[in-house]
Amino acid sequence: MQKLAIQGGNPLRGEVRISGAKNAALPIMCASLLTADTLRLTNLPDLHDVGTMRKLLQQMGVAAEIATNEITFKGDKIDNWEAPYEMVKTMRAAILVLGPLVARFGDAKVSLPGGCAIGSRPVDLHIKGLQAMGAEIAIEHGYIHAKAKKLKGARIFFDIVSVTGTENLMMAAALADGVTVLENAAREPEVIDLANCLRAMGAKITGDGTDNITITGVEKLHGATHHIMPDRIESGTFLVAAAATGGSITLRETRADILDTVLEKLTEAGAKITVDGTSIHLEMSGRPKSVSVRTAPHPAFPTDMQAQFMVLNCIAEGSAMVIETIFENRFMHVQELRRLGAMIDVEGNTSVVRGVDHLEGATVMATDLRASACLVIAGLVAQGETVIDRIYHLDRGYEHIESKLSQLGANIRRIK
Ligand code: UD1
Repeated sequence: MQKLAIQGGNPLRGEVRISGAKNAALPIMCASLLTADTLRLTNLPDLHDVGTMRKLLQQMGVAAEIATNEITFKGDKIDNWEAPYEMVKTMRAAILVLGPLVARFGDAKVSLPGGCAIGSRPVDLHIKGLQAMGAEIAIEHGYIHAKAKKLKGARIFFDIVSVTGTENLMMAAALADGVTVLENAAREPEVIDLANCLRAMGAKITGDGTDNITITGVEKLHGATHHIMPDRIESGTFLVAAAATGGSITLRETRADILDTVLEKLTEAGAKITVDGTSIHLEMSGRPKSVSVRTAPHPAFPTDMQAQFMVLNCIAEGSAMVIETIFENRFMHVQELRRLGAMIDVEGNTSVVRGVDHLEGATVMATDLRASACLVIAGLVAQGETVIDRIYHLDRGYEHIESKLSQLGANIRRIK
């Protein structure tokens, strides 16, 4: 199993290009199931999850022509409508094939995702939404089996805001008969990116980016070319790493408008941030100030940035509260951070972090994707060497992380 070894203490300095967003790439790749024409996606990040999704689509009969950071899909020979357990268990986003398959072929079989490290994460909202659109759904032998002659537009209310739930039903509705209205829909920028791609393919969608999305089904979708939006979580992770190490970095090819709350919190921590077109510059001098955060659906503070801000608070001046409202078990990084000397108390979904003046390197274990990112930041600020075990989580979501960090002056290497 691969590990990362980091010698802490170097402030991050320099420029880094931000990759395409994982959470936009995965649903948009599934849009290739909605048409027999070609869908060309550019700015695709080179990530393990993108590879897994491509293999899943290929298993279904989608042709994939691969170039650097782009894939051209063609879904004219799809003959297998099943997403097997082996794929879904490693990547929950595989559930995103369900809506498109049942909409275009009237049949889909997708393994139920099991529990995962950050909580139980059910998919009941995806299922209820498809049922409201007329699909018959059976849960058998660990699989969701959905059938429908033709999906019909419906009014669907989400009692919990779900990002992939919104995306799955938006794709299904694109080929349904009539109008679908998604109420209390997710407003994440990645939902808008998917809607932009679907519109380029001929879908009729309005209201994306608000909590009320209207989709008027069309008979057929056609091919398109779509450039994946920048990854706001990768952007935020580099910014926090620079702030925590007292560095000065510039992110290229990103967007400040999708990072509002994160930039606000970094400013509150004492960072100086300037935005110039698609670049964001952060400068930090002195010790960061503690900042409390409470995760909630977009546009509030993203759960995928919670662990990174926890590390910032670990070495900040003062105390802060970190409240997690999206996932019930997303504090597993706390125990690992304590091994580095962090002072964190947890009660239910609330952590109280008291800043210490330094962390000390140790061996730690990554438990999920964003927890891994927080341990990398912790390693960058800690005195001495930090070794992070189980970094396969990191490779699922961060493109070439150690080369990007090395380029910024970090002392980091992969141990194979
Ligand atoms: C997506 C992101 C993930 C991010 C999360 C929250 C992708 C590929 N992943 O995950 O990085 O952390 O949004 O911003 O985009 N829920 C239900 N029933 C459902 C669906 C969800 O109860 O059918 C609950 C979940 O357990 C969770 C909450 O709703 O408590 C939000 O989850 P959801 O937005 O669906 O997360 P994902 O789409 O899986």
